[in-house]
Amino acid sequence: MGGVFVAGSINMDVVATADRHPRVGETVAGREVLYFPGGKGANQAVAASRLGAKTTLIGRLGKDSFGAELRAFLGAQGIDLGHVTETAEAHSGTAIITVAEADNTIIVIPGSNALVSAEDVAAVPLAKGDVAVSQFEIPLATIAAFFRHARAAAATTLLNPAPAQKFGHDLLALVDILVLNETELSLLAVTELADSDPHDRIADAARRIRVNRDQIICVTLGKRGVIALVDDRTVLIQGRNVAAVDTTGAGDCFVGAVAALLADGQPIESALGYANVAASVSVQRMGAAPSMPTIAEVSAALRAERLSSG
Ligand code: RIB
Ligand code: NA
Repeated sequence: MGGVFVAGSINMDVVATADRHPRVGETVAGREVLYFPGGKGANQAVAASRLGAKTTLIGRLGKDSFGAELRAFLGAQGIDLGHVTETAEAHSGTAIITVAEADNTIIVIPGSNALVSAEDVAAVPLAKGDVAVSQFEIPLATIAAFFRHARAAAATTLLNPAPAQKFGHDLLALVDILVLNETELSLLAVTELADSDPHDRIADAARRIRVNRDQIICVTLGKRGVIALVDDRTVLIQGRNVAAVDTTGAGDCFVGAVAALLADGQPIESALGYANVAASVSVQRMGAAPSMPTIAEVSAALRAERLSSG
């Protein structure tokens, strides 16, 4: 059984809740301000760890109070933080988030995340069976170095190219499993994909960006489920009808869960189905990292589903 190694961002999410989002130039009264551990890298590591994977996070914090709080929270999740360092050169990553009507807007200030370097990832002990995971809140050159290192060790590479950013074929060629949403796919495939697009249009776009047949492309469609290309097959996973309160980090939950199950040696189809359920649990709670479910919570959601489907 392998481990999950996440090279990525760690943020303090400063969340304002309100009845609705303000328009540009407008002020609305908020309900609360909340501080949640977040950042795509940290969120994915928390999801993997809570779902039973031996998880290591590689990243950087600032020498500040947010940094100290984030380290304490992540350590309490059982994540190996031996490759998370503190730097005096920048503040800890911070995200300013508004949540209204279960939807969010996010401004991310990278701070120390922008300093995660190729040297930081070079020392990580990867082996066959491990899953190396990254996202676009640390420098792309660092991700490429991490994945080259992973490939050399025969580990599996999983990229979540979020938030959406254009990137080159050389990085895509280092990826075994790509997990992205429709916005990120539109950018990469240079096609406009609408929210209501039929499955075959999305699958076509995914097929166009795939570098070879061995690469798995997995498109997350929010409450509409997941479409994945696996070899010659198109795998469809139905969305789950749940009452969402905060979707922040739902994609991260999905990615962390896929990584955890693959590291456990599960086939990709099972990993995707399980991750879909895990993400549906996470959206029913506030916050990013704190909303990641445990194995027991995913099992309970699966049991409830079996009961209700008779
Ligand atoms: O994917 C959600 C995350 O994006 C939040 O936790 C926030 O920190 C931003 O990085
Ligand atoms: Na959540």
